[in-house]
This record gives sequence, structure tokens and C-alpha cells, in this order.
Amino acid sequence: TDKLKDAKIVFVVGGPGSGKGTQCEKIVAKYGYTHLSSGDLLRAEVASGSERGKQLQAIMQKGELVPLDTVLDMIKEAMIAKADVSKGYLIDGYPREVKQGEEFEKKIGAPALLLYVDAKAETMVKRLMKRGETSGRADDNEETIKKRLDLYYKATEPVIAYYEKCSIVRKVSRNTERNMMLQSNMTSVLSLTP
Ligand code: AP5
Repeated sequence: TDKLKDAKIVFVVGGPGSGKGTQCEKIVAKYGYTHLSSGDLLRAEVASGSERGKQLQAIMQKGELVPLDTVLDMIKEAMIAKADVSKGYLIDGYPREVKQGEEFEKKIGAPALLLYVDAKAETMVKRLMKRGETSGRADDNEETIKKRLDLYYKATEPVIAYYEKCSIVRKVSRNTERNMMLQSNMTSVLSLTP
């Protein structure tokens, strides 16, 4: 944990299919952050075929949240593994609920910023249904997408309100194809000064 003491942490939060992963790739290309996606870390564990992976798969297929300790431990391990090379971390898909944010702060540290990737519900559903045709992701089907969306509004949106209190939320709207590219104002969005 000592290694992470001075790390700059940016939480990336948004609904399913809002474009979190897509925007993170662009930020990495431009600003050199280390991108850690909670969903990708969990899917890697599932792909490993481990017993823990099997349990995670059952939860993710239903569009529910996996246990907090599991996801936080995975993120922490991945952060430590990359600590020497990182200018800062984009923690994508975390926190999913206020409690996750509190535990992260206790065990790792406070975020410098929260990047809120905003998109309309209908846009998110359309994108995920389209991705489902080719992605092979077990959770990209109509029923699970609806559950993921409901959970986002119920559990994750309060996270944004929680961090708005300390003025570290920066919002990017990614509803259309034209917004796909990061704009130059992202430099100020990603600067340390809130
Ligand atoms: P996770 O992998 O985080 O899934 P998600 O939040 O549902 O988000 P996605 O990865 O599906 O979408 P995204 O916002 O990254 O969008 P993307 O850029 O890919 O989590 C999966 C599951 O793991 C959860 O349901 C849960 O079970 C578990 N989990 C994860 N984190 C957890 C946590 N912290 N605690 C507990 N459980 C957790 O884009 C989507 C599509 O749209 C792509 O096809 C893309 O090409 C396209 N697209 C993106 N932007 C645009 C644009 N501007 N215009 C047109 N198309 C676009």
C-alpha cells in the first residue's frame, strides 16, 4: 500500500454502455494513465476457470454486484503490480455504490477526481444490444441490461452525488458518435486542481 500512497486516482463512473472503457482508452493514449477496469479484472478471473471465477460468473450473468472485498482486493493487487510505471490510475467501473468508495478510501486512498461518463438510458441500451451481437458477453442481453441499468440508477448514481460534495466530479456527456473523441478540454478535466 505504501507504493500507492502518492498515486493520483481517478474514478471513472457511468452507466452500462455509457462509454467508460472507450473514453479510458483515449485518455490513456493521450495522457499515459494506467487503466484498470473492474469488469475486465473480473472477466479475467472468470476466464481463468478458477473456482472463484465460477462464482463471479454466476453473479455477473445476472447483472448483480460481486462482493465488495473481492473487487477491491483485485483492484489493489493490480494497482500494486503497476505502481512503478504509473503516472496515475483510471479506476473504471468502481465505485458502484457509496460503500465501495468509502472502503477504497480506507484501504488505498482518496480519489483526486471522479469522471462521470453520462449517456441516456436508451443510448446505453442500444449500444449494449448491438455489442451483444458480437461480444459474447453473457450480460449483454435485454433482460440483464435492464437489471444493470436499474442497479446503476439505484446504487451507483448516489456515488456521484456523494463525491459532488467534495467538488471532484467532472462530467463528460457521450451520447453521440460525434462526441466519441476526447476533446481538448479534457486536459483541464484531468488536471489535479478540482
Ligand atoms: P463492467 O464491465 O464495468 O460493465 P458496465 O459497467 O456494464 O459497462 P460496460 O463495460 O458494458 O460499458 P462501458 O461504459 O465501459 O462502455 P464501452 O466503452 O464498453 O461490469 C460488468 C459486471 O461486472 C457488472 O455488471 C458487475 O456484475 C461486475 N462488476 C464490475 N465492477 C464491479 C464493482 N465495482 N463492484 C461489483 N461488481 C462489479 O462502450 C459500450 C459500447 O458502446 C461499445 O460497443 C462501444 O464501442 C460503444 N460506444 C462507446 N462510446 C460510444 C460513442 N460515443 N458512440 C457510439 N458508440 C459508442
